[in-house]
Amino acid sequence: MIRAEIPTPALLLDLDAFDANVTTMTRCVAAHGKGLRPHAKTHKCPEIARRLVRAGAAGACTAKLGEAEVFAAHDVRGLLVTTAIVGEAKAARAAALAHLAPDTIVVADDVHQVGLLDRAAGHAGARLRVAVDLYFGRTGVAPGAPALAVAQAIAAAPHLEFAGLQAYDATASHTFGAEARRARSTATMGEAVATRSLLEAHGIPCPMVSAGSTGSYRVDAAIDGLTELQPGSFIFMDTDYLRIGGPDGEAAYDDFRPALSVVTTVVSVHGDEAIVDGGYKSFATDRPFAPLPVDRPDLVYGWAGDEHGRLDMRRATRRLAVGDRLEFRAPHCDPTVNLYDEIHALRGDDVEAVWTIAARGKSQ
Ligand SMILES: Cc1ncc(COP(=O)(O)O)c(C=O)c1O
Repeated sequence: MIRAEIPTPALLLDLDAFDANVTTMTRCVAAHGKGLRPHAKTHKCPEIARRLVRAGAAGACTAKLGEAEVFAAHDVRGLLVTTAIVGEAKAARAAALAHLAPDTIVVADDVHQVGLLDRAAGHAGARLRVAVDLYFGRTGVAPGAPALAVAQAIAAAPHLEFAGLQAYDATASHTFGAEARRARSTATMGEAVATRSLLEAHGIPCPMVSAGSTGSYRVDAAIDGLTELQPGSFIFMDTDYLRIGGPDGEAAYDDFRPALSVVTTVVSVHGDEAIVDGGYKSFATDRPFAPLPVDRPDLVYGWAGDEHGRLDMRRATRRLAVGDRLEFRAPHCDPTVNLYDEIHALRGDDVEAVWTIAARGKSQ
């Protein structure tokens, strides 16, 4: 198949851009002696996880247990589930996952939940690796003494093994401007590293401090005490990330190339409006800006319903006709990918492969 034959709407991956992005990230972490466990919440695709492992990643992070179960079933190992496991039913699933993939790490930020994880692991005859999730504005326990208390509970639990700290800072990732991101991440990751020292001073070895994002990776890679980075969006990029500002303040963030697009077809034309077959069900709608037509700055997309988008052609240098195909950059990559069953991997205009997004919708 070639690009022009892919039924629309469809998700496309430019493999040259993807490969370049992977090389940029792996070189950066390797230069600083750090590990890489890319976040698979971005792609939810076992083939992409395997490619990242072949490029040097230690495994994959997942946001949810359900995603981790899919990746484990596809033989991906080195899984880190970055959202705390809460409740008996999920604790039992985490223990079962540890049977299948014993190097899996889950996170906790609450002593009561640590108790549930320990009971579930004991019941399943498993040994479960648990890291402490640190709070930098969303989930987690506060760095310092509160985190030490949770780590001590894990270390004392007979069926658990203390795996380290997770220190993802969502605010640092999208803070505007490279200098502001540096200041934010240096401050919060300083707290994470100090917590690691506190734990070790209390006799709890801390083999892992996993942190970082596409926006803050350069800063985080250079911080002593972090052991690995867990960025996700860098493989694809989206228009949200292109707006966070580069080293020159206002400049676009261009460390990574846009690799992801959605292809649509023009299905109707009326005067200066062309209607394409991609709407709310083809793009995530959580950002205050619309999909961006690729290589067509003369066209403006507007939402036109679940299945449709409206292209304003008043400033078009070339008018669209029914049957024309148009590609767009997604405003936000992760929730856009979650709308598709498969991704078409392109080398130039050739479809090299079609990969299943096997963990899409696995949000439990
Ligand atoms: C816990 C965690 N780690 C890492 C990431 C990766 O961030 P990014 O896609 O900005 O690189 C995310 C993204 O939301 C996350 O939730």
